[in-house]
Amino acid sequence: MEITLNINNEPVTVDVDPETPLLWVLRDSVGLTGTKFGCGISQCGACTVHIDGQAARSCDTRASEAVGRQITTIEGLSPDSSHPVQQAWKELSVAQCGYCQSGQIMQAAALLERSPRPTDSEIDSAMYGNLCRCGTYLQIRAAIHRAADIGQA
Ligand code: FES
Ligand code: FES
Repeated sequence: MEITLNINNEPVTVDVDPETPLLWVLRDSVGLTGTKFGCGISQCGACTVHIDGQAARSCDTRASEAVGRQITTIEGLSPDSSHPVQQAWKELSVAQCGYCQSGQIMQAAALLERSPRPTDSEIDSAMYGNLCRCGTYLQIRAAIHRAADIGQA
């Protein structure tokens, strides 16, 4: 069935089963492979995107649920990787293998949208569900503080 989604401020029409997880629509139908598959059961955060500005697990969101909403993926977070979170991530060399990082960045960007100066405990609680097998948690926390500085400069 054809459905039209708003992805990164563009209408995109895809022919999919409306029950298909948004993650697979983004990756397989639209070719936006920055959003990663980790667990498929909403337990790791690798697939995090924004839906209407809120962090959401795309593996656990049906395509039909995303119709009429604003979907932002890592590719659409900024036109040139200049979002404060992306700048801070680069400055602090947060990524190791990188697999979890687009989800981490999307989760962090949503946090800063609602809380521009988060405390350590706000960061820990917002980022709790985003797992990193490389253990970059301390760099992530530092980079979120740095992104807050960049965002308010
Ligand atoms: S792949 Fe979606 S939360 Fe793990
Ligand atoms: S950087 Fe490797 S899983 Fe997070």
